[in-house]
Parts: sequence; C-alpha cells; structure tokens
Amino acid sequence: MKKESAMKSYSSQELEKVVHYLDGPLRIALKENEAVILHADLKEGDCVLDIGCGTGFLSLIAAQKVNASGKVIGMDSRQEMLDVMQKKAEKRGLDHIIKPCLGDACSLEFSDNCFDAVVMSYVLHENSERTEILLSEIYRVLKPGKKLVISDFIKVADPERNKEIEAWHKGTDPESDADEVHLKFSLSDYISLFEKSNFKDVKGEIWIEFQGIVEGRK
Ligand SMILES: C[S@@+](CC[C@H](N)C(=O)[O-])C[C@H]1O[C@@H](n2cnc3c(N)ncnc32)[C@H](O)[C@@H]1O
Repeated sequence: MKKESAMKSYSSQELEKVVHYLDGPLRIALKENEAVILHADLKEGDCVLDIGCGTGFLSLIAAQKVNASGKVIGMDSRQEMLDVMQKKAEKRGLDHIIKPCLGDACSLEFSDNCFDAVVMSYVLHENSERTEILLSEIYRVLKPGKKLVISDFIKVADPERNKEIEAWHKGTDPESDADEVHLKFSLSDYISLFEKSNFKDVKGEIWIEFQGIVEGRK
C-alpha cells in the first residue's frame, strides 16, 4: 500500500478496490488473522490495540475473544478505513467492543502500560523508516509481560524469488507504487528489530513463503 507520506483520500472506487484486496477470500481462507490473535493469548475482558487496523481484519476476531467485558481499539491513520471497520463491527454486533481511533502509530495517545496485547498486520513494512519509534511506542503502552504480535511480509533468501513476489504484489495491491517494496525485512530482521526495542521471548514463524508472524513480550 502507499507510503504514509504519499497519503491522499481514496475515491469511492479506490476504496472499494482496497477493501476487496484487504478482505479478499484467499486471505480469509489462510486464517492468518486467527493465528495472530491466537498468539496474542487474549482473554475475556482484555484491552487490545490493533495498530493500522484497516478494515478491521484483526479487530473483529479480537473482539470475539475479549467479549463484552473487553475492548479493542482499532487504530488507523485513515478515516476511510475506520469507517469501513465501524460498519463491519455494527453489522456483526461488535461495535460495543471495537472503538475506532484515528492517529499515527508512531505517536500513540495512550498512557504507559495500558494494553493487554498489541496486534498489527502488514504495517511495519509500511513504516520501515520509523520502526524504532513505532516499536518503542508499542512497548511503552503494553502492560509488563504482555505481547506484541504482528504479521507482515517476509523477505526470502533468493533475490530472484523476491523480485517475482514483488512483481506479483504490483499486480494485486491496488495501491502499489512502482518503487514500493513489500519484502523489506527477513524473518531474522524482524526478530532483531523486536529485540533492539527490548522485547523478550521473541519468536517468528513463516506462515506462507513470504508472510510470517512475529511475537515478543514486554
Ligand atoms: C496493508 S494495510 C493492513 C490493514 C490491516 N491491518 C489488515 O491486515 O488488513 C496497512 C494499514 O495500516 C495503516 N497504517 C500504516 N502506517 C500507519 C501508522 N503509522 N499509523 C497508523 N496507521 C498506519 C494504513 O492506513 C493501512 O490501513
């Protein structure tokens, strides 16, 4: 998707394409969203932050886990995305649990130690020049002992294969710029980024060839 610096409002046609891309049937069939939420060890009553929530891909699953006594803050820098998530939450009767929040993940307007889990899918690669500040903000708002779980694109070892995957992305991501790189970090790069930001018990797994899940604990 487009870099934050190049952000503009979507036309309704563009928004439809982005929603179709983010909520596509293949993505749902992969059940990666459920795996991320499973890794986050959510319990009823938990308070969860979904950073760069988009159309609510993770927030909607998290809301079912934390139930009515819990809360999911779905945060995004695009109001259009939050509006789509809100409509989906209302349709599924989860709008009393999911709270949309407009903002920048690199400057979170939450107090220290207030979330039981932070989840984030396909956001870190879009903030590759601000990973340190983003991860330190997440660390700050997590309660001690609680987890950050992310899914994101993973750079593979073979450079030729990386090029093929990037070319495929350019054909599928409706917002992809000619110079945009999805596969910025390898699995070990993600693990180092987490460790540099003081996360403990950092683990990563490849979910499918070029997508993976990484978790760490405060
Ligand atoms: C590729 S989409 C993924 C959306 C959703 N997490 C999913 O997996 O379907 C990335 C989302 O993150 C948001 N985003 C990227 N950088 C952000 C930042 N620094 N602060 C808040 N939102 C951000 C974008 O607006 C976009 O909606």
